[in-house]
Amino acid sequence: MKNPVFTLAIAFFVIFANWRSLGAEESESPAEVSFIRDVAPILVGKCQSCHGAKTAESNYRLDTFEKLMQFGDFEMAPVTAGNLDDSEFHRLITAEDEEERMPNNGDQLTGVEIQLIDNWISQGAKFDGQDPAALIKGQLPRVAHPSAPATYSTALPLAALTFSADGGQLLVGGYHEILVWDPVAGTLLDRVGDIPQRVYGLEFSPDKSLLAVAGGSPGVSGEVQLIPWTEAPKPKAKAQILATHDDVFFDVSFRPDGLQLAAACSDGSVRVFDVATGEQTRKIDNHADWVTDLCYSADGKLLATASRDKTAKVFSAETGELIATYSGSNKPVEAVAISPDAKQVISTSGNVVRIWNVEDSKVVGDLSGFGAEVFALLTDAESVIAASADKSVRRFTLADRKQSLAITDHPHSVLSLAWHVASKRLSTGCFDGTVSLWNLEDGALLKRFVAIPPKATPAN
Ligand code: HEC
Repeated sequence: MKNPVFTLAIAFFVIFANWRSLGAEESESPAEVSFIRDVAPILVGKCQSCHGAKTAESNYRLDTFEKLMQFGDFEMAPVTAGNLDDSEFHRLITAEDEEERMPNNGDQLTGVEIQLIDNWISQGAKFDGQDPAALIKGQLPRVAHPSAPATYSTALPLAALTFSADGGQLLVGGYHEILVWDPVAGTLLDRVGDIPQRVYGLEFSPDKSLLAVAGGSPGVSGEVQLIPWTEAPKPKAKAQILATHDDVFFDVSFRPDGLQLAAACSDGSVRVFDVATGEQTRKIDNHADWVTDLCYSADGKLLATASRDKTAKVFSAETGELIATYSGSNKPVEAVAISPDAKQVISTSGNVVRIWNVEDSKVVGDLSGFGAEVFALLTDAESVIAASADKSVRRFTLADRKQSLAITDHPHSVLSLAWHVASKRLSTGCFDGTVSLWNLEDGALLKRFVAIPPKATPAN
């Protein structure tokens, strides 16, 4: 049934949109339309529910750019660059007949939306996203993150922490921010905002000039940020967004030469970036589930990954080629590390910490003593440190797998670890928001505080 008021409104909108673009630009050609900025949000919001992976009406999908350009049952080109008359898109979004018009659920594109799509087609239907084969939803333009709350009603589980170069600052993932603490005094030094809701991975580049952040909002969005970092006076310059996704990124790791950055994604992929340009140079699609942790070998040649698919793997950092898989775990693999000689991998699954050979994936032995899941690992030249949900952190000698230190008095599950090698200090982050600073020589507790911003420190 035709609704005259509605039709009039549409006509007005179309005229208004045309008039406005003419007026604003003072030229005959409308402003350049960006696919990702202008068109993609319309498609995701108004079309994808019927033309996506789950429901593909008329066997037509538009959830990736590649699919959008391929026809469905109509066998008519959805979009012909520069030619509206040969574009089903144009015909269907402007169809007079309500039954035929898209979207065909009674919803209706506004005149402005129709004009944007038409202008985009007329201007050559260019793709300006990150990857034509990837979900459009994951490539939508970035909106600034909400500000962090002044203080938190409850502490957050501490999934990520890291020391600054001189050990004088401890960076801890907060809620839409990074909290910069003085780890010895337990005082808050700074708050860095415009960060994903939750932070799962934090790592400084080897020269400490860049901070990489992996995080997101579970099931909603994910992001990898690269932040130029100077400790004074204000640490944060403008962050570069290296990648976005519709679910979180769990970890980031710099290759020891600082030229490459790898990120672990919940889509089972590893994204590899060129640090100088910020461009994604490789996507390794090998795991069948979340990649939960990753790290490079000391020589920069290997990249090891942990996954919820219950495997740990080793790839060539140069080519992305799969070198080894360890599939002897019966639970998700939570953490992974590589021995300093790059011959062995240490991976954790449940309460098992296993060492296995890169060459043949054979088990060398286990680091035992844990009563619950092991969530984090660190290595140096001769030892491994592991953190567990049994509230303990244990250090082992790599050569004989003997325990050399056990710290068992944490208030809750230990989720994260940071090591400041020069000062021999270890920092641990617990599920209940507790940060502890330890002397790694004798296991003495130096400081403990809960990472909640005091009320008097306004958020950035
Ligand atoms: C409520 C479900 C629904 C929504 C929302 C929807 N469509 Fe459709 N679409 C359909 C159905 C059903 C058909 C098949 C129509 C037919 O057979 O007459 C179709 C067909 C199409 C086709 C032809 C595909 C082919 O076979 O080659 C295109 C192109 C298309 N839609 C684009 C869009 C666009 C663009 C939007 C958003 C502006 C959209 N659709 C929103 C249900 C929907």
